[in-house]
Amino acid sequence: MPFSGFALAVLLLSIASHAKPCSDQEKSSLLRFIAELSWDAGLAMSWRNGTTSCCSWEGIACDRDGVVSEISLPGRGLHGLISPALGDLTGLRRLNLSHNSLSGELPWEQLLSSSSRLAAIDVSFNHLEGELLELPTSTTHGRPLLQVLNISSNLFTGEFPSATWKDMNNLIALNVSNNSFHGWMPSSFCITSPSFAMLDISYNRFGGRIPAGLGNCSALKVLKAGRNQLTGMLPDELFNATSLEYLSVPNNGLYGILDGTGIANLRSLSHLDLGGNRLNGKIPDSIGELRRLEVLHLDHNNMSGELPPAFSNCTNLITIDLRNNYFSGELTKVDFSTLINLKTLDLLFNSFTGAIPESIYSCSSLNALRVADNKLHGQLSPRIVNLKSLIFLSASFNNFTNITNALHVLKDCKELAVLIIGSNFKGEAMPEDETIDGFQNLQFLSLSRCSLSGKIPLWLSNLKNLEMLLLHNNQLAGQIPAWIKSLKLLFHLDISENNLTGEIPADLTEMPMLTTENTATDLDERVFLLLVYRGTSFEYRVTTAFPKMLNLGRNNFTGVIPKEIGRLKSLAILNFSSNRLSGEIPSQLHSLTNLQVLDLSNNHLTGAIPVELNNLNFLAEFNVSNNGLEGPIPAGGQFSTFTSSSFGGNPKLCGAIVDRPCASAETNLVSTLSTEWKDRWFAFVIGFGAFFGVGVLYDQIVLSKYFG
Ligand SMILES: *[C@@H]1O[C@H](CO)[C@@H](O)[C@H](O)[C@H]1NC(C)=O
Ligand SMILES: *[C@@H]1O[C@H](CO)[C@@H](O)[C@H](O)[C@H]1NC(C)=O
Ligand SMILES: *[C@@H]1O[C@H](CO)[C@@H](O)[C@H](O)[C@H]1NC(C)=O
Ligand SMILES: *[C@@H]1O[C@H](CO)[C@@H](O)[C@H](O)[C@H]1NC(C)=O
Ligand SMILES: *[C@@H]1O[C@H](CO)[C@@H](O)[C@H](O)[C@H]1NC(C)=O
Ligand SMILES: *[C@@H]1O[C@H](CO)[C@@H](O)[C@H](O)[C@H]1NC(C)=O
Ligand SMILES: *[C@@H]1O[C@H](CO)[C@@H](O)[C@H](O)[C@H]1NC(C)=O
Ligand SMILES: *[C@@H]1O[C@H](CO)[C@@H](O)[C@H](O)[C@H]1NC(C)=O
Ligand SMILES: *[C@@H]1O[C@H](CO)[C@@H](O)[C@H](O)[C@H]1NC(C)=O
Ligand SMILES: *[C@@H]1O[C@H](CO)[C@@H](O)[C@H](O)[C@H]1NC(C)=O
Ligand SMILES: *[C@@H]1O[C@H](CO)[C@@H](O)[C@H](O)[C@H]1NC(C)=O
Ligand SMILES: *[C@@H]1O[C@H](CO)[C@@H](O)[C@H](O)[C@H]1NC(C)=O
Repeated sequence: MPFSGFALAVLLLSIASHAKPCSDQEKSSLLRFIAELSWDAGLAMSWRNGTTSCCSWEGIACDRDGVVSEISLPGRGLHGLISPALGDLTGLRRLNLSHNSLSGELPWEQLLSSSSRLAAIDVSFNHLEGELLELPTSTTHGRPLLQVLNISSNLFTGEFPSATWKDMNNLIALNVSNNSFHGWMPSSFCITSPSFAMLDISYNRFGGRIPAGLGNCSALKVLKAGRNQLTGMLPDELFNATSLEYLSVPNNGLYGILDGTGIANLRSLSHLDLGGNRLNGKIPDSIGELRRLEVLHLDHNNMSGELPPAFSNCTNLITIDLRNNYFSGELTKVDFSTLINLKTLDLLFNSFTGAIPESIYSCSSLNALRVADNKLHGQLSPRIVNLKSLIFLSASFNNFTNITNALHVLKDCKELAVLIIGSNFKGEAMPEDETIDGFQNLQFLSLSRCSLSGKIPLWLSNLKNLEMLLLHNNQLAGQIPAWIKSLKLLFHLDISENNLTGEIPADLTEMPMLTTENTATDLDERVFLLLVYRGTSFEYRVTTAFPKMLNLGRNNFTGVIPKEIGRLKSLAILNFSSNRLSGEIPSQLHSLTNLQVLDLSNNHLTGAIPVELNNLNFLAEFNVSNNGLEGPIPAGGQFSTFTSSSFGGNPKLCGAIVDRPCASAETNLVSTLSTEWKDRWFAFVIGFGAFFGVGVLYDQIVLSKYFG
């Protein structure tokens, strides 16, 4: 042992001493580089501590002659400017400074000077800014070595250089995504660089058409240009780039039809994303020739017609996303049974008719199936249990029938976590059959807008993993069952617009998720396989993105609001509106410090508005209109932000806001907040309300629409 240890030491020593040290000149260039950093995260210290040869400095590598060939310092927390002195390292082949906080301009003229040998530059994920100017032609000689340039996720602006690329005949990959470049999309590299394989310009402001010149890129494998302002059709020439494997141009202004002959040329294609454009026409039959296709996004276009039966030849498909188009016809035209790799089928918002084709039930890999907002009908097939991996099923807003059958077949889908089937089963009765058990992983259930009669059924109490339950817009009668509190993970309950009666039970105030700050942490993102929409621009995959909510509005509840309501400390939205509640507003509501929306309007509430409600710092929407409330409206605090519409229809309320002065004795009771406090609250609340409050209410409308 001691001997081999010694031998190793000798060996290492001899290697070290035989490696040529770097030149003083190179060392000084590196030191100038580090000197330009405003924060080097201990790098200078480590370099100073190290050996005298800069070749063994952290992040530096040299070639055999002791010439610095690589600087690799990604994710080191570096701040400051990139020194042009790096251009003096004439043997540098690779420069990787990605994921730092570097700012200022990229000294690319120095880096790519005529003596430069740089083959790879990666400065992605920094704060670099300014324009990337055309390089002067005098430096032409040096540049051909550049293969990889990644300047993505910075703050670059201006037009993108075009002439510069003409000389770079070794270029392979160019990633300029996530900057603010505008002007024409670059295209000239392919003329000179036969091996050009990857272009990513997504997340910029490039405009105009996709240049025909890309058709000359015979080695191009990846083209990503999503989220720009591109228009026009896919150029015919592009279909000559037959090496393309990944073609992704979503969220632009492309229009026209998908050319069948053209697209069929791209036989290597595994990923095609043209979602969020203005394409029209059909999906061409030739799609079936794309045997390697795995991912297809044509969502959010104006496409129409039937699905081509040839789809069944694309046996490698994993994702089909056709949502928000005008596709029609019977889905049974396609034999889905060959698509054994299919994991996601999303047909939301189209006009498909007929039944869900039986062949879908052979897609045993299917995780997510969404056929919501179509014109499908019929009963769910018992074969749906063959979809052993099904986690997400959304079929709302169709014309499916027999809810008893639907629940009986779905209860055995063991993985099912999200089930959204509202706005079907019109006028049927809520099954109250005890044999509906199963649903062992169900976390989200929406059965809203079905006009279901009956009661809130007992079988729901078996759904121990349920976190969100939407039963609104039905005709359910009877009381809120006491077992509701046994749903230990339930945090979002909407039973509004039913015909529920009785008092608000104290059991409701014992719901574990609402009385604690707990969030359902074991609820994983896994279940929201498809984006569920709240509002127009926000898309959520996690149920934790939904507020803790109790919506009991528009029912026939009577009696008083229980004082125990104060236990629901973590509630964000409380809606008891349009019932027949009486008695006073319990001051205990002030304990609900997370409350953002409180709606008690259209009841028979009496007495005063508790002044303590001023504590509710997050309250953005407040409505007690159309009750029998009296006395002064609390002044200041959150109340400064509410308008008279929050209080209307209460003839005995007084205060400036309803233009009805209070007797002076009354006012004194409520002016508990100093003016200074009022001002502070006001500023806070305006900011918060503008940011959040509007969103919440608006979202509720959209939420109910999309969840059906
Ligand atoms: C520099 O070297 C000294 C002594 O070897 C050591 O204590 C110190 O931790 C080193 N500092 C850095 C930043 O590596
Ligand atoms: C730069 O380093 C990052 C982090 O290690 C790595 O992901 C990236 O691939 C590197 N860039 C190049 C061009 O090798
Ligand atoms: C930058 O792009 C190059 C070329 O595609 C790639 O090799 C490198 O990994 C990218 N860098 C990061 C940090 O992703
Ligand atoms: C380009 O860089 C971004 C990060 O800025 C990365 O997300 C993307 O995957 C890269 N593009 C390609 C094609 O590798
Ligand atoms: C764009 O860049 C910013 C800042 O580096 C980063 O936070 C963000 O994730 C990037 N976006 C994409 C889509 O890569
Ligand atoms: C493709 O390359 C050829 C030969 O270099 C050139 O003549 C032609 O104009 C290029 N096509 C486009 C559309 O740029
Ligand atoms: C595609 O390439 C073929 C053969 O190289 C050529 O004849 C044809 O004109 C090209 N098509 C387009 C649209 O550029
Ligand atoms: C699938 O491909 C085969 C072979 O090319 C062809 O004969 C068949 O018609 C295709 N199927 C469909 C449904 O288009
Ligand atoms: C739903 O089906 C019923 C009975 O088949 C039919 O009367 C009704 O028009 C359908 N509704 C829609 C929206 O297709
Ligand atoms: C509805 O489904 C149940 C259970 O599968 C079945 O017994 C019943 O006959 C079905 N009703 C209709 C009208 O098809
Ligand atoms: C409430 O009950 C009354 C009488 O019992 C009935 O007329 C009314 O329609 C019910 N309201 C709702 C919303 O169901
Ligand atoms: C609501 O329930 C009451 C009493 O049970 C009944 O009189 C009324 O008709 C129901 N209203 C509706 C809309 O179902």
